[in-house]
Amino acid sequence: METAPRQAVCLHAQPGQEPELDRLARRYGLPTCAAQPSADWRLVLTPQRLQLEARCSRQGPVYVDFVGGALGHRRRFGGGRGQPLARAVGMQRGRSPRILDATAGLARDAFVLASLGSEVTLCERSPVLAALIGDGLRRALLDSEVAAIARRMTLQPTDAADWLAELAPEQRPEVIYLDPMYPAGKDTVLVKKEMQTLQRLLGPDRDSGRLFEIALATAVRRVVVKRPKRAAWLLGRRPSVSVESRKTRYDIYLCQPATPP
Ligand SMILES: C[S@@+](CC[C@H](N)C(=O)[O-])C[C@H]1O[C@@H](n2cnc3c(N)ncnc32)[C@H](O)[C@@H]1O
Repeated sequence: METAPRQAVCLHAQPGQEPELDRLARRYGLPTCAAQPSADWRLVLTPQRLQLEARCSRQGPVYVDFVGGALGHRRRFGGGRGQPLARAVGMQRGRSPRILDATAGLARDAFVLASLGSEVTLCERSPVLAALIGDGLRRALLDSEVAAIARRMTLQPTDAADWLAELAPEQRPEVIYLDPMYPAGKDTVLVKKEMQTLQRLLGPDRDSGRLFEIALATAVRRVVVKRPKRAAWLLGRRPSVSVESRKTRYDIYLCQPATPP
């Protein structure tokens, strides 16, 4: 169930990229710009990458880059297992939990977790975002330094609640990580430009409480909810403990081990 506003996005290819465009249209169920010329947003396939462009905005394109840019920098200099995100999911020396990132977005957090050794499943229900992640992973697999990290990341272009409902009990993730789109407001004035674009495209995730409940009932060890630092707890529920960074808070909900009958 997607409760965010659905904005029209069409797929456009630069010359020579048309066969790949058809493959993307089929895989993610997106229309081509020939079929939907009035869409406000375009996913443009260039010879280098797939990128999201707003028709009536001067803001630059949004794309997923696991090799260079901010994520490449964070991979090299990002603080390792001592960084708040790693501590929040319970990474310890020699132990990296299996993680479901149930709200993958642009997959930046998922990439950090995979670069620290975790196997990460990424659920993303927006076909546009899923297509961008898929393209970023495709390019990462071609890079000798990053390919091993990308192989630990498995994209599921679907709603996490539906995906979790299909899981066998022995496949339950140790950790479920949630970073739902937070309503734009005073807590989020400092959001990055890319996140502003996502907010315009997708709107807030109004059903995040339901996903949270499902996560709490499914995770083996913990559920981690990322929030702006001063935001209220999700569903008003007090976490077991929180980890803070400069602008962000990670609320950690430890799961009770099943008691034997
Ligand atoms: C704030 S963004 C996440 C950003 C991400 N943590 C990152 O590092 O790039 C939230 C994303 O979660 C997705 N989302 C929200 N609810 C979802 C659900 N139930 N299943 C799958 N994706 C969901 C939204 O479509 C949106 O792309």
